[in-house]
This record gives sequence, structure tokens and C-alpha cells, in this order.
Amino acid sequence: MADFDSQDRPQAARCPGPGWETILAADDIAPPEFMAEDRYRYLGSDAIDARRYYDPAFFRAEIDKMWPNVWQFAARDEDMPEPGDYVTYDNAGRSFLLVRQDDGSVRAFHNVCLHRGRKLKTDSGSAEQFVCPFHGFAWNTDGALRTIPCRWDFGHLSDAQLHLPEASVAHWGGYIFVRENPEGPTIEEFLAPLPEFFKRWRHEDCVTVAWVGKVVKANWKITMEAFMESYHAYVTHPQLLPFTGDANAAYHVLGEHVNVNYTPFGTISPHLDGHALSEQWIVDEFVKYNGRSADNYDPEKDDYNITVPAGLTARQALGAAMRQTSARTFGGDYSQVSESELLDALVYNVFPNFAPWGGFMPNIVYRWRPWPDQDHCLMEVRVIARVPEGQPRPAGVPMHLLGEDQTWEDAPELGILGGVVEQDMTNMELTHEGLKCSKNQRVELGDYQEVRLRHFHQTLDHYLEQ
Ligand code: FES
Ligand SMILES: [Fe+2]
Repeated sequence: MADFDSQDRPQAARCPGPGWETILAADDIAPPEFMAEDRYRYLGSDAIDARRYYDPAFFRAEIDKMWPNVWQFAARDEDMPEPGDYVTYDNAGRSFLLVRQDDGSVRAFHNVCLHRGRKLKTDSGSAEQFVCPFHGFAWNTDGALRTIPCRWDFGHLSDAQLHLPEASVAHWGGYIFVRENPEGPTIEEFLAPLPEFFKRWRHEDCVTVAWVGKVVKANWKITMEAFMESYHAYVTHPQLLPFTGDANAAYHVLGEHVNVNYTPFGTISPHLDGHALSEQWIVDEFVKYNGRSADNYDPEKDDYNITVPAGLTARQALGAAMRQTSARTFGGDYSQVSESELLDALVYNVFPNFAPWGGFMPNIVYRWRPWPDQDHCLMEVRVIARVPEGQPRPAGVPMHLLGEDQTWEDAPELGILGGVVEQDMTNMELTHEGLKCSKNQRVELGDYQEVRLRHFHQTLDHYLEQ
């Protein structure tokens, strides 16, 4: 395994504007050192083979060699808080039934009847037993066989043989993970260094307040990779440029399975350099078009009037306003929280398909799965928000699955974010189609801004070569 703590980090070229570290240094409060320290790694410049995105044989190799061996984000705790609550999680040719046990733990069973193979459940809910709707084989919530109609006809099978087969389950940050194969790294090893980094941001104290999904006509990797760099913002999301340091973003490779990009908000894009009207203008544009500021989640909406005092930057003014908003909305003391942890897109990605945003704001969490083949995926966007101090933990909201003819803007719970995601979607199907008809079958990546995509493919190769 590569040594990701090595100090020997060759550098790629960087945007000639102010870098991420320079932007952080001008803020009132510094973020944790792990954010400010340059953890980029040069991982090569070779082209990626386009067939990885549409070839059924490559997709089959992912199913055989990768998916069974990785920890997959399958559910959040608030999706199944009580004993008997269950979630069905389908992915990559498997179906799992996650069930909350009487002792509060979670077990994951293969969601297939051991009689003639009907799926046991197709939804999420609560049950005292799992009864197959075909002939009535029934299991307890701990996976033990409960009853079989005409048990006398199955004397050749013991109850032990008819226990539902299980997958491994692990927990971190309010997320529940499953892995089909029992052998492999612990969840802490797999996620490293995420658990250390997220100690400040405590996703276990958050619940899902919005959750929207849509089937996309593109390979799951194409769709995911559109959310792994800010390079595309210049052309795909031009309305974000007045307040987004797209080309100043930092890209860090953190562990075998984890990378991140930190995209600063409240600073003008280098693409618009020379056109900044004022720091106040940056703030006003941010408040209008940013999809994640706390005021989107604050019914009082009184943070729309943020004035930049003379001599301060937009980031300082936004940071001060968001410290107040956060304290009022969630309780607690935000007086020493950095601008960056309140404003910026801190977009972590855990191999293969799970992307939790860091920071203290309501956080976006992405997941992408093949649905069900190499040509389609299910993309999900959750927003998880801190439970206000002293208040009971509410239940999570269920997924709002958009229909084929609906857009992300038909999900009002996403606010401005829906329109931004819809802009991303304009590229997905055409990229999938384009790769199929590409003459040279090569995907070229920028050395710096697209290093996370390269890191992903190198990790994927590591699994496929086993
Ligand atoms: S297939 Fe499930 S009981 Fe027959
Ligand atoms: Fe985007």
C-alpha cells in the first residue's frame, strides 16, 4: 500500500491566483491544520481507458472483485432507529436487508428467500418477522428461521441451514456500512483518516433532513466524478463564479480510500479576476446562489442582509454571520470556528461511492450506485443537519425518488442546490454516450484538479488486480 504520509510530494502546476493556503491565511480563524497543509500527491498523467465506463466485462469485474470487498454506505442510523426497523439496500447484483436488533445493533442479511429465491423485502419499514410473500417461509428479525408452512416437506433441511446468510456491518458517524466478504480492513482502517478529521464535525449528531434520488442515464463513475472536482464550475455553473474560488480549490489525497477537495466560497473565481465589483457584491451573490448556506435552512431567513464592514473581506463577513446563525439554529458555541468550516465546500470522497461533506454547516452527502447496470446509476443527495442542542433526535426523512421526467429542481427540499445538480446532469448522459463513440477511447485528466479521479481509478485497479 502506498505511504500517504510521505513528505515526498511532487507538485503539479497550480492556478496562478492566490492558493487555498493564502485564502485561509487571510481569514479571522484558522481551520484545523489537516485542512491547511498541502496533501496533494502527483499520481501520474496517463490517460484513463474509456471502456472502464461502459464495457459490460469491466462492470462485471467491478461486481466480482471490488464491490464485495469494500465497506459500502448502506444506511444512516436515523433511517432505522428502533428494534425491528429495516432498510433494504440493493447494489451491484446483491440485495441486503439491514435490521435493527433488540440490543440496538444492526445485522445485514442477504435479502433473498432461501426457498425459491424471492426477494423478501423491497422497501424499508418495521417488522416483527420477515415473511416471504410467495409460500410463507418466515424469519425472525435476527435471521433465524421462524416457520415454514408444511415444515414436514422440508425434513432434509435443518433450521441452521435455513438461517439467513449475513454480511459484515460496521458503524461510523451515524452511517451504517455493509461488506459482503468477512475478511478485510476494519471500518476505521478503511476510512482513515476520515474518523480523525470528522471528530470536530460529528456527523453522528446530525440527521437526514432532505434526501433526493434520481436514476441517471450514465455510468455510476461518470456521475460521481462530476462531483469530485471544481474545474467544471467555470462552464457548467457560471452563476457560482462571483463567490467561488473554483480554480483555487485544493485537492488532497489522504489515504488509500479517501481524498478531498476544498473549494473556497466567499472569494471570486480566478476566471473573473479583474471583475470583482466589491466584497459586498461577493457576499450578495453568495447569499443568492449558494446552495448550502445556513439561511437556506433557517425559517427566519434574516441572514439575507449581511453587510461587509469596511476593511473586511467577504469571507470574514460571511464567517461572522454564519457563526451567529449556526449558534442560533443549532445551539453551541461557534465563536472559534473557522470561516472555512462554515462556508467552504469540503467535499470528501470515500472509495468507491460515498461522499460526505465536512464542516459544521448542514452537510451534503452523496452516494452513487449502478442501477442496475453499467449504463445507469442511482444518484442520491442527502442533506444532514445538526440536531439542535437539547432537542430530541427526530426521525430521518425517507428518500424522495424523482421520476424519469422530473428534474432535481422538482425537489423543493434541496433549495438552490437542486438547480446546481440539474446543471451537472446536463453533462452525464452525453458523456456516457460520448465515451462509447470516442475515436481514441482516452479520457485525459488534469494533473492537479482531477487528481481525485485518478486516485479513484488507481484504487479501483488495486481491487481488480486481486
Ligand atoms: S420463494 Fe419464498 S417462500 Fe417460496
Ligand atoms: Fe457541479
